[in-house]
Amino acid sequence: MKAKYLTTAVLAAALCGPVAAQAENLTLYCTVDETWCQQVARGFEEETGITVDMTRKSSGEFYAQVRAEASNPKGDIWWGGTGDPHLQAAAEGLTEEYVSPMRPELHDWAIRQAEASGNRTIGVYSGALGFGYNKELLEKNGLPVPACWADLIKPEYEGQIQIANPNSSGTAYTMLATMVQLMGEEKGFEYLKALHKNVNQYTKSGSAPIKAAGLGETTIGIVFMHDAVAQTVAGFPIVTVAPCEGTGYEIGSQSIIKGARNLESAKKFYDWSLRADVQSRAQEANSFQVPSNKAAKTSDKAPDLSTIKLIDYDFKKYGSSEERKRLLTKWDAEIGSQPQ
Ligand code: G6P
Repeated sequence: MKAKYLTTAVLAAALCGPVAAQAENLTLYCTVDETWCQQVARGFEEETGITVDMTRKSSGEFYAQVRAEASNPKGDIWWGGTGDPHLQAAAEGLTEEYVSPMRPELHDWAIRQAEASGNRTIGVYSGALGFGYNKELLEKNGLPVPACWADLIKPEYEGQIQIANPNSSGTAYTMLATMVQLMGEEKGFEYLKALHKNVNQYTKSGSAPIKAAGLGETTIGIVFMHDAVAQTVAGFPIVTVAPCEGTGYEIGSQSIIKGARNLESAKKFYDWSLRADVQSRAQEANSFQVPSNKAAKTSDKAPDLSTIKLIDYDFKKYGSSEERKRLLTKWDAEIGSQPQ
């Protein structure tokens, strides 16, 4: 009886009543810091009325999730996180082609990411890899001030360093690919093996090591420099270092997930997040990356990339499916699985 009544009521509403607009939704997979994820989710929701369901995870974790969900996609857009896994997802056909009308407003480095991926991803921000240290702990432990990558493998830093696991974290994968590019593969892996002895923990998320350093749980954290700056701005005794040998960098990216249930909402979010005024607000969320929109404001606290010795990071190669898989498998076998 009840079912019959409902059916009639629904039918009557459909025939006579005003047709209620279907609520728009967006399932957002977010890979920046939680505060910035919340800011964009709520900001987009307020401006568009589209309900955002946001989850924060690391780059490698969302890459794996998007892949696992490919036959039944749950997410609509994957926003933020290092570009390499976005490029890998693009190469594997896990993300949609989309050419945003916002593209002319962006820096070349952001557009190059799109061109390298057959328009399946695009740059949202960039930032250089480096490390930070807790100056109070460093002094307390009588340790020298580290300035170079070479310093971090010295025996006096045994157990003093934290970095994420490159399987889950794009930050740590950037470090792995940076060492291979800076030193060559053999020397790069020797370096990472030596570093392994000084690492006290491989975390899941890329920025966790510098948060731990801020709290005095480790002396040094290998992270993107803007994540170290964020800890200093938050009041922790963290000093940011641009390694003397030069360093790699990320092009934080976004991609629309292939088969997105809310494709139109995903496109709206994609364009919205590339707007200058939206990107200018990142610093209010304590995020100090360089924005991809040329007119967006970069915080004066953001590390100045033009003064940092950057390597010519080969995003196409290190974001390719084969290379990323190969390096991670090798890292697991030769480093991650080894006793310290
Ligand atoms: C932090 C940084 C971002 C970076 C992200 C990668 O949130 O601020 O610039 O893209 O980490 O996260 P992951 O956990 O994958 O290293």
